[in-house]
Amino acid sequence: MSEEVRGRRRSGSLYRNGAAFASQIRGEIRGKLHAETIVVGGGIIGCAIAYELASRGEEVILIERSRIASETSSAAAGMLAADSEAFHTTVMSKLARESRTLLHQQKEQLHLLSGIEMGLQQHGFVTPFRNEDEMNKYQDTRCADSLTEQIWWDHSILHREAPWISGKTYGALYRASESELLPVNLARAYAGAAQTLGAKVIEGVQDVSLTADANGIQGVETSIGRMTCKHVVVAVGLQGGEMLKQVGLQMPIIPVKGEIAAIQYAEHDADYRPDKTVYADNVYIVPKANGEVWIGATSLPGRSDRVVTVEGIQELLASAASWVPGIQQAQFLRAWAGVRPATPDGLPYLGACNSIPGLYTAFGHYRNGILLSAITGSLMADLIAGHSSEELGIDELCPERLSRKEIIH
Ligand code: GLY
Repeated sequence: MSEEVRGRRRSGSLYRNGAAFASQIRGEIRGKLHAETIVVGGGIIGCAIAYELASRGEEVILIERSRIASETSSAAAGMLAADSEAFHTTVMSKLARESRTLLHQQKEQLHLLSGIEMGLQQHGFVTPFRNEDEMNKYQDTRCADSLTEQIWWDHSILHREAPWISGKTYGALYRASESELLPVNLARAYAGAAQTLGAKVIEGVQDVSLTADANGIQGVETSIGRMTCKHVVVAVGLQGGEMLKQVGLQMPIIPVKGEIAAIQYAEHDADYRPDKTVYADNVYIVPKANGEVWIGATSLPGRSDRVVTVEGIQELLASAASWVPGIQQAQFLRAWAGVRPATPDGLPYLGACNSIPGLYTAFGHYRNGILLSAITGSLMADLIAGHSSEELGIDELCPERLSRKEIIH
């Protein structure tokens, strides 16, 4: 660790001791906060953007209404499923792969700067099938470029490589490049690293409204006072649509609730614990770095509550046990729910709002916020540095696309 980093870590109040830091900020700088860029939203996306800006030497304030990663990001399974997810556009599948690579590259630096391990593991993902017909149907629905990163494991290879999988499984696709991590750790690592690099990370900032005039964005009004800046990035996920309405922009968000469970294998059953992620059509089973196995997730469009139902968890566990029978002997630990921020066309709102200079959005990542966090941080920092969406190849994700097409009434 360099002297400079050590010095910052000694003197800086990492947000993990954040209550004290936030109240110090409230007390000392109330009403006087200014930065080049204010990032609104301390989920995985906002934290990644703050980190990227701070690492490029930019002055940044990250504000979060509650605690870092306390909403959607805390509910995620943390899969970096760049090859396994069914992306329907080339741009999304390309960004997903770039982001997975970037996350692997950032791992050491984030640990060094924040002291937090993100629990990144690359054991590959297995997509199993019960018969040939099922496998053929699956292949027909995939984008051609998603087929390149996989190999076929027939019954005998599969049972050699994954002895814990049901003997009834016909075969599986194996994707060695896939990995997964602990999502809350990643968000905290981004926030902590950003802070070490000079960003202000303030939790508990409520009632945020955007202020703009004919010249563009001016800043935000908040429960701890006015903050001024040149650029605002809205990265608030579920509430993004409502926030943008304040300045007359239409970026609707559709909530999609998901339930997920954690189990743990007893030590004497360790041989039956999956050592790779199972990514099946109806369930995923993810062995985590903390020793748990996470099983997800239900998908309930239009639902924004975080109630965990017996029915939801029953379905998940039954599906999981049909692929990995040993799950039935494992200890049930807990279950939780989160709400994914989807958009009507399935693409995130990522870019500059051309009608309001200085305003940027980065939300609507639906079920891939963790995976897309690193590339989103990098793209937003590039945009703020003056690169255009066209140059960056993300014109399709333009935040005002739905307003322009008059899909919204
Ligand atoms: N990332 C997977 C899910 O949202 O279920």
